[in-house]
Amino acid sequence: MIGSPILATWFPEAASTHAAGVDGPFYWIYIAAVLALFLFAGLGGIFLWIFRRQDRNQLGAVTGPLNPVFLGLWVLGALGLAVFAFVAGFPGFIDKTVAPQGSYGIEVTARQWGWDFTYPNGHVADTLHVAKGFPVRLTLNTEDVEQGLSIPAMRVNQAIVPGLQSEAWFEATTPGSFELRGSIFSGDGFTDMNSALVVHEPADFTAWLASVSDIFQGRTYEEVGEILYSRLGCKACHTTTGHKLVGPTFLDMYGFEFDTVEGNKITVDDAYVRESILTPNVSVIAGYQPVMTPFAGLVTDQEIEAITAWLKTLSSKGGVEAGAEAGAEESPEAENTESGDAAGQEEN
Ligand code: HEC
Repeated sequence: MIGSPILATWFPEAASTHAAGVDGPFYWIYIAAVLALFLFAGLGGIFLWIFRRQDRNQLGAVTGPLNPVFLGLWVLGALGLAVFAFVAGFPGFIDKTVAPQGSYGIEVTARQWGWDFTYPNGHVADTLHVAKGFPVRLTLNTEDVEQGLSIPAMRVNQAIVPGLQSEAWFEATTPGSFELRGSIFSGDGFTDMNSALVVHEPADFTAWLASVSDIFQGRTYEEVGEILYSRLGCKACHTTTGHKLVGPTFLDMYGFEFDTVEGNKITVDDAYVRESILTPNVSVIAGYQPVMTPFAGLVTDQEIEAITAWLKTLSSKGGVEAGAEAGAEESPEAENTESGDAAGQEEN
């Protein structure tokens, strides 16, 4: 009966090891419920017919005490159904609750209205990719309101409560692309939370992760620099808008001259940016504390070049091309003029 065309429509394709533990109990409970419906509705109908009033003067029959055998059967039957549902569902529940040792960990961040999936190497994607045949453990957090993650083909459905870290896991058994969506209404952009789970063959998964993790692939140095600004956390201390945070703004930094606390003057060029990233506290800009994290060992040379290229686009002294671009964003005439220079100095 299971897998018949009518019943099969209840669940999507079973593509994870959880399916047996979920689908089996579901269909048995479903069948029991349908049988109970017919039994009670049928008996109700039959008794209505048998015990109908047959002439106008007939009074209701006086009933004796309840038959203890029927009463006992009724209680035991109902209890038996409940115990059966529990016993049938419990192993699957335990299996879904505890991820196996050595599962592949992916962090899931839900927000209004989208998903971030963060891989162990730091790569962040908005679709979930996994390898077939490997257990995957999801640690789930929400940035704002209560959310829910549902991957029907994996039989995964997990609420994500603000301030609580939840977990879910699954092992995909079939390669392909499957539906992934929010399962708890979280506002009017809720349907934007429809995304996808892509299950790869193990070798393809490794290749996929390697290619997407190379942030230089398909991007200019300037674009990579901007990504690194967020990813490396420069954003916490440096703005691109002219506002001063813990550190000086990146707007009009490259190519400009600054005083250091020792009273020297430095001009921000490629070498100085490099030094500032690797060993920031060697020369400290006047008016700031030597609190910048040294990034030596955390960034590659290529990444420093990318950050430098991006800093140039934020500066009116960032070179011909970049200068034109940065100038265009503010006022077209402000390129490299003395007033622009003075304004830059003042901001810092
Ligand atoms: C914890 C806060 C903090 C973080 C994070 C941080 N910086 Fe800084 N940064 C500072 C402070 C404070 C200064 C000014 C003092 C100094 O020169 O060390 C500074 C100075 C600099 C300077 C020289 C500024 C100038 O006007 O000459 C550069 C370039 C720079 N940071 C780049 C970066 C980059 C790139 C990142 C990310 C990879 C980053 N910083 C992350 C706080 C931070």
